[in-house]
Amino acid sequence: MNRLFFAVVPFFAVGTLIATLFIIRDPGAQPERKKESIIQYDFDAVVDRSQNYAAKVEEAILHYGTNDVIPLWIADMDFKTAPCIVDAIKARANQGIFGYTWRTPKYFEAIAAWQQKRNGWLPDTEHMAFAPGVVPGMRMMLTMFTQPADKILIQQPVYHPFADVVNNTGRQLVVSPLKRDEDGRYTMDLGDFAKKAADGVKYFILCNPHNPVGRVWTREELKAVGDICVKHGVRIISDEIHSDLMLDGHKHIPMASVSPEIAAITTTCIAPSKAFNLAGLQSSTIVYDTVEHKDAYVAELKRMDIARNNCFSLVATMAAYEQGEEWLDQLLVYLSGNMRFIREFCAEHLPELKPNAPEATYLCWIDARALGMDDAALKKFCVEKAGVAFGEGSEFGLGGSGFLRLNAACPRSVIQKALTQLEAAVYNY
Ligand SMILES: Cc1ncc(COP(=O)(O)O)c(C=O)c1O
Repeated sequence: MNRLFFAVVPFFAVGTLIATLFIIRDPGAQPERKKESIIQYDFDAVVDRSQNYAAKVEEAILHYGTNDVIPLWIADMDFKTAPCIVDAIKARANQGIFGYTWRTPKYFEAIAAWQQKRNGWLPDTEHMAFAPGVVPGMRMMLTMFTQPADKILIQQPVYHPFADVVNNTGRQLVVSPLKRDEDGRYTMDLGDFAKKAADGVKYFILCNPHNPVGRVWTREELKAVGDICVKHGVRIISDEIHSDLMLDGHKHIPMASVSPEIAAITTTCIAPSKAFNLAGLQSSTIVYDTVEHKDAYVAELKRMDIARNNCFSLVATMAAYEQGEEWLDQLLVYLSGNMRFIREFCAEHLPELKPNAPEATYLCWIDARALGMDDAALKKFCVEKAGVAFGEGSEFGLGGSGFLRLNAACPRSVIQKALTQLEAAVYNY
């Protein structure tokens, strides 16, 4: 009996474990709707963000003239983060001492191990440095490693602070527009990119995956654009802040993993802030192309006396990367469901709006040109008639006019309410 027990139980236990991992990890393994039935975390719970000094509520007044709107603009989530992260922060708070904090090798090892596990890329911890944010890190790189008026290349439409950091540091902005096909899918214009890269560009800022168009660049696309940079001596900053938010089985390819030649010129920006909703903790990591660049950057952080803190971001980051995977995988299933809901709602009730099907991020990019309004009128209409604050497409530069960016990282009921209000405004119900 004992022998039978020991032979059969492990067999079933291992079988169940493999089946569970297969269902959670492999998005192709089950139809989407079936997978949602295994969600344990309550992503449907509506949290009142006005109680936590949320920028999306308080700052809405600056951008939209009111905060009496459903805030679907700035990119943070309305979900409570993974319980393991809350527990780690509570345990840290219970220590009751919040003095200067130092990131030990253990911290950077947790980041490297996560990259290896999720993306098959093992970054060298010797190349890593802390940054209070990806954007401030980028700004420091441009000021430290380029000269005023140097050319910096970006691909628009793209996250608008890319253009801002270039303009605000007195560098010269060069834009290679993305191409959009009839189905609303975007690709890189490699011919245009090569022409511009050959004309004295110093850095290319890549958005990988891409905010706002939701593309997960393929290895072939990354290699093609990376090889152009290698050929023309253009260094790459690859902003991979959204790389943990892969939808529907898409796979993130870190730019620095594409080839040794590309790795040698690529600096990668990563953070748990988007996927685990930790933007308020300021905890980003820069994986430098060279140790010399890393050392120069860290020396500058020290000169500015911002190299050490914050103590909560440290434990939150380690908890996310060491224990947060299961929560994240379930979040991704919910987000995919939200994206599908938006497309189905618009197809049925608001055919003037054409939402994309993002391959990554929680940001839905909606073609609203059929509403026939200019950008100012569209913004006013959404805010005043529909009571919804979307990200304004025109902010994202070339190709953004007439588009809306909808932050879908909120309970589905909130999206439904926003789209229903928009429908009523469009059809004058
Ligand atoms: C592509 C991209 N990079 C960077 C950021 C902001 O990063 P941080 O808050 O770390 O500066 C965002 C925020 O939405 C983003 O979408």
